[in-house]
Amino acid sequence: MNNKYFKVMMIGDVIGRTGRTLLLDHLMEIRAVENIDIVIANGENSAGGLGITSKTYRAMKQAGVDIITLGNHLWDKSDIYSIIENDDVIRPLNYPGKVEGEGVRIFEEAGLRFAVVSLLGRVYMPRGECPFRAMDKVIENLKKDGINIIIVDFHAEATSEKIAMGFYLDSRISLIAGTHTHVQTNDSRVLSGGTGYITDIGMTGDRESVIGIDKDIIIEKFLLQQPRRFKVGNKKPMINAVIAAVDKKTGLCKSIKKINKDLDF
Ligand SMILES: [Fe+2]
Ligand SMILES: [Fe+2]
Repeated sequence: MNNKYFKVMMIGDVIGRTGRTLLLDHLMEIRAVENIDIVIANGENSAGGLGITSKTYRAMKQAGVDIITLGNHLWDKSDIYSIIENDDVIRPLNYPGKVEGEGVRIFEEAGLRFAVVSLLGRVYMPRGECPFRAMDKVIENLKKDGINIIIVDFHAEATSEKIAMGFYLDSRISLIAGTHTHVQTNDSRVLSGGTGYITDIGMTGDRESVIGIDKDIIIEKFLLQQPRRFKVGNKKPMINAVIAAVDKKTGLCKSIKKINKDLDF
């Protein structure tokens, strides 16, 4: 582990076999080169572009992912009901009622305690409880517990909701990274209060696709206005991620950088 800083890598939505294979082939090397302490990946699209299965969960773990966050597609495959109980899987926190799994989990790595939260937006999304107020409660409880390293995957559609959340949580958490749109935004930065931020990490899948799905299928769907069976794109694999250095003492972010790279299988 690094001395002063906790190095966190967050990987944007892993899309089907393309995303999984890319991680299996390259993640361990990236981990070593960048001296990463912990890898968090969004796995909601890891199974054929929709949902997660036991097989895709195991593949991501084997590739070097430590913690898997989820999003609106988590219920798409029935395997989720067993996977969700694993202590390295986090489902969105702010469902309106009691559902399986946990939205916040606390981890310990070489004596350092930190928390990871999966959070769902409410704009163009299934409506959960207010994510802003949900975070207030989570932060209050974690701070009572002496935990000041808090990492949030904010799975949301609207850029405005994500930017507002970043400012709302600034100085109170370590890092908030958006997921769900599958398109990386060019605004990674450390906010003035010390929280690392990006509106969307992007996806780990095919650059020559429409947000992960074969582009010809999606173009045809738009042209004909008929449903089409989705196939995950596999022409030009890319990894989208961020790497942040979090001060172990203060829990605040020192730096955040984007990764947006084409890689071969
Ligand atoms: Fe996604
Ligand atoms: Fe999503």
